[in-house]
Amino acid sequence: MRLVVLASGRGSNLEAIMETVKIGKLRAEIVSVVSDNANAKALEKAQSHGIPTKVLSIKNFQSRQDYDDALAKAIEDAGVDYVVLAGFMRVLGNGFVRRFRNRIINIHPSLLPAFPGVNAQAQALDYGVKVSGCTVHFVDEGMDTGPVIAQAAVSVYDNDTADSLTQRILVQEHKLLPNVLQMLSEERVEVSNRKVSIKRNNLNREDGGL
Ligand code: GRF
Repeated sequence: MRLVVLASGRGSNLEAIMETVKIGKLRAEIVSVVSDNANAKALEKAQSHGIPTKVLSIKNFQSRQDYDDALAKAIEDAGVDYVVLAGFMRVLGNGFVRRFRNRIINIHPSLLPAFPGVNAQAQALDYGVKVSGCTVHFVDEGMDTGPVIAQAAVSVYDNDTADSLTQRILVQEHKLLPNVLQMLSEERVEVSNRKVSIKRNNLNREDGGL
């Protein structure tokens, strides 16, 4: 399975994917890491793993459409199966989403459909929920509204800050995203009518696992 990862910042999810590939638990190749931010730590992390990187800055494009076209071209030139948004802070246009329907995966730090958009952890704290978590989903034309593939929950404690909750959710993100990618590589993920179902694999069928 060939992947392009799009990342704007820290790159801890990218790192989790690269490490899972490295230890042989994810059969995938990250063919390129693309960022809209030349200073993204994610780019350094990719380079330290020998993965080619590309920066596409919005300021170098006349319009959002031009940007999306360049991004789509970079992805198609790389010949990939899935596009992984790992902290990519730009909203992709509808044309782009349609071009890669059910082939763009995003990770979001809340249990969607609760708390879409930015600062999901702070939104969860402000609301006062007792459980939050993370969601991996296919990207559709809306903001964090696409079909949910998998979720992981964490407790929210009375003394949590946005930072402490973020860290607790990240621990789960770093497991959930590589797990979903492995399920995709095994062609166990099916989407029908906006609903995702996961086929069991032969290894853990007896014990009722995924
Ligand atoms: C993560 O919390 C992810 O859920 C959200 O952006 C953040 C990216 O973090 N979409 P990192 O760059 O992977 O460390």
